[in-house]
Amino acid sequence: MDNSILPQLFNHRSIRQFTTEPLTADEVTTLVKAAQHAPTSTFSQQYSLLSITDPTLKHAIGDITGHHWLESAGHYFIVIADQYRNRQLAQQAGVDPAILHSTDKFLASVFDAAIATENIVIAGESMGLGSTIMGSILNDAGRLIELLHLPELTFPLLGIAIGHPEHTPDLKPRLPEPLVHFTNQYQLPENFDNQLIDYDAQLAAYYQNRDSHRRTETFSHHITAELSRDPKVRAELATLIGQQGFKLA
Ligand SMILES: Cc1cc2nc3c(=O)[nH]c(=O)nc-3n(C[C@H](O)[C@H](O)[C@H](O)COP(=O)(O)O)c2cc1C
Repeated sequence: MDNSILPQLFNHRSIRQFTTEPLTADEVTTLVKAAQHAPTSTFSQQYSLLSITDPTLKHAIGDITGHHWLESAGHYFIVIADQYRNRQLAQQAGVDPAILHSTDKFLASVFDAAIATENIVIAGESMGLGSTIMGSILNDAGRLIELLHLPELTFPLLGIAIGHPEHTPDLKPRLPEPLVHFTNQYQLPENFDNQLIDYDAQLAAYYQNRDSHRRTETFSHHITAELSRDPKVRAELATLIGQQGFKLA
C-alpha cells in the first residue's frame, strides 16, 4: 500500500526559522479546515483558533514566549479552549449551561484544542510548511487573555508558528518503545536503566552533531533541568483558569 502519511509523521521536526513568505489566504483556510476535521470530544467542537496578523500583537506574544522568531513565521495561530460559544448556544436555547464550567469540560476543550493543533501541524507539513507549537504563551496567560480580549469560558492553550521552512533540523530521537508502550499494566522494563543509558547516549550524540545550538545534554539531564525551573513561573495558571470561569476543584 502506498502510504505517504507515515513517512511524513516519522519526518516531523519543529521549525523555528522561516522565509518571509506569508501564507496565502487559501493556505490558512486549508489549515483551519484540517483543524476542524479533527475528532472532537462529544462532537462539541469546544476550541477556537485566533489568527494573529497584527504585528504589535505578534511582538507582544514574542515578549511573552521569548520566541520573537514567531514574528517572521508566515502565519501565527493561538488555539483557545472555548466553552463560551456553546454557552451562548445553551443560553439561547434556555438550557442551564452550568456543566460547561466543569473540569470535565475544561479538559475536553484541552483535548479538542490539542488534537486540532496537531492536525494543523500535519496538514502544514503535507503542504511543505513547517511549524512549532508553543506552550510558552502560558508564560503570561493573564496578559494574553487581556491582549486577545478573551471572554469567560475561554482560555489560551497553545500558539502555532507556521510558515515556509528556512532550515531542516535533524530529527530528534524519541524514547525506545519499551519505555513508553506497555501491555495491560504499567510496567517499566527491568533493564530500564540500561535502556535509558543507551537513549541518553543517542540523544547526546544528536545534540553534539546537530547543525545549530550544539550542546552537551542527555535526556536524563534535560528532564532534571526542567524540574529545576523556577516554580513561580506559571504558578498562577489554576487561578487564571478559575478567573475565566472554569471550576477545576
Ligand atoms: C504542547 C507543546 C508545547 C510546546 N511548546 C514549545 C515552545 O513554547 N517553544 C518551542 O520552541 N517549542 C515548543 N514545543 C515543541 C517541542 O519543543 C518539540 O516538539 C520537541 O522538542 C520535539 O522536537 P521536534 O518537534 O522537532 O521533534 C512544544 C511542543 C508541544 C507539543
